[in-house]
Amino acid sequence: MDFKRDFPIFKQRPELVYLDSAATSQKPQIVLEAENTYYEKLNSNIHRSAHFLAEEATLAYEATRQTVADFIGAQKHEIIFTRNATEGINLVARSFGETFLKKGDEVLLSKMEHHSNIVPWLQLKEKIGIVIQYLDIDENGQFIFDGSQVTDKTKFVSLTGMSNILGSIPNLKPIIAAAHTKGAKILIDACQLAVHQSIDVQQLDADFLVFSAHKLYGPTGVGVLYGKEGLLKKIPPFLGGGEMIQEVFEQSFTPADIPHKFEAGTPNIAGVVAFKAAIDYIRQISFDEIQKIENELTTYALEKLSRLPDLTFIGPKKAENRGPVISFTMQGVHPHDIAEGLSQKDICIRAGHHCGQVLMDAWGLPATARISLAFYNTKNDIDQTVKTLEEVHKYFT
Ligand code: ALA
Repeated sequence: MDFKRDFPIFKQRPELVYLDSAATSQKPQIVLEAENTYYEKLNSNIHRSAHFLAEEATLAYEATRQTVADFIGAQKHEIIFTRNATEGINLVARSFGETFLKKGDEVLLSKMEHHSNIVPWLQLKEKIGIVIQYLDIDENGQFIFDGSQVTDKTKFVSLTGMSNILGSIPNLKPIIAAAHTKGAKILIDACQLAVHQSIDVQQLDADFLVFSAHKLYGPTGVGVLYGKEGLLKKIPPFLGGGEMIQEVFEQSFTPADIPHKFEAGTPNIAGVVAFKAAIDYIRQISFDEIQKIENELTTYALEKLSRLPDLTFIGPKKAENRGPVISFTMQGVHPHDIAEGLSQKDICIRAGHHCGQVLMDAWGLPATARISLAFYNTKNDIDQTVKTLEEVHKYFT
């Protein structure tokens, strides 16, 4: 099946080989239409005015909340829309962290976290003096965990569900169990994971989980924060403003109930409405099918790339326990030159530290080149990339 047909950018740019879906995915026609239809037929502010148009817009916005809740096995009021996953993590670090953590408490992260799951905790460290601990990463991109890293001092654990640098899908289960045994709470950064496999927050037993719409075939500017009802009720609002209150007085205010107390101001209504179309589209294809295609492409890419001279994979070399994100270096060619050489042939990849400087420093790497695949890619995309990589290598060495 040619899924590229569902994505207008490939019609507009037939030469495009897009291997940067971990940075942001392309958008199917139905998502673009949904956003357009919202503006053409429903445009109105939500949760405010009593007129019919506002009511219809509110219903459309809230329908996405239900769809997202169903998508991850949550309750509707446990889903909060943010600007992006980064804002979701900041919300938890601030609202949970400043309420329940104190000087000397430990927050456990891993060395392969995205900066968005490190910097908010470092900011909290600067503010209240928490201690940040890190799990080391093995060469397959798995957490090195033997239980001892979760201690009586550990009060919060915040980990990725799939590395945006290595593509690895780490085993979270023992860490979540250990954290809960010690009474610590856990947040999962599911930005990459949510794109490649179904998530059930009940099964996972995560206290908080974040992901973003734009990596999941939806619009930019929409993030999802899931939180367990009891916890969301206990923590204060992150941002103040319209719509997050029950009442406002000269000297005080009372917050609205969840989820609205975390959604201050006019949100990205069109983006949220269109995100429903993206999730419906994914569910219609099914994660079984998506995984089948992506696993086949990953296996194919690993095999083809491994034949190139001077190429070293950074992270797992096999297709198991991973998503379709492949990092590598090439001796004698800087990753930025690799990306530039590919770009000249209409091939888009990402090169650099991938917002993961802690891992890069730990592994002594200045940068990597990263191919990230989606189910709309083809073996031909990979063949073209490998052929161009050969040319780039020849040019520089
Ligand atoms: N986090 C995104 C990436 O890894 C932007 O490229």
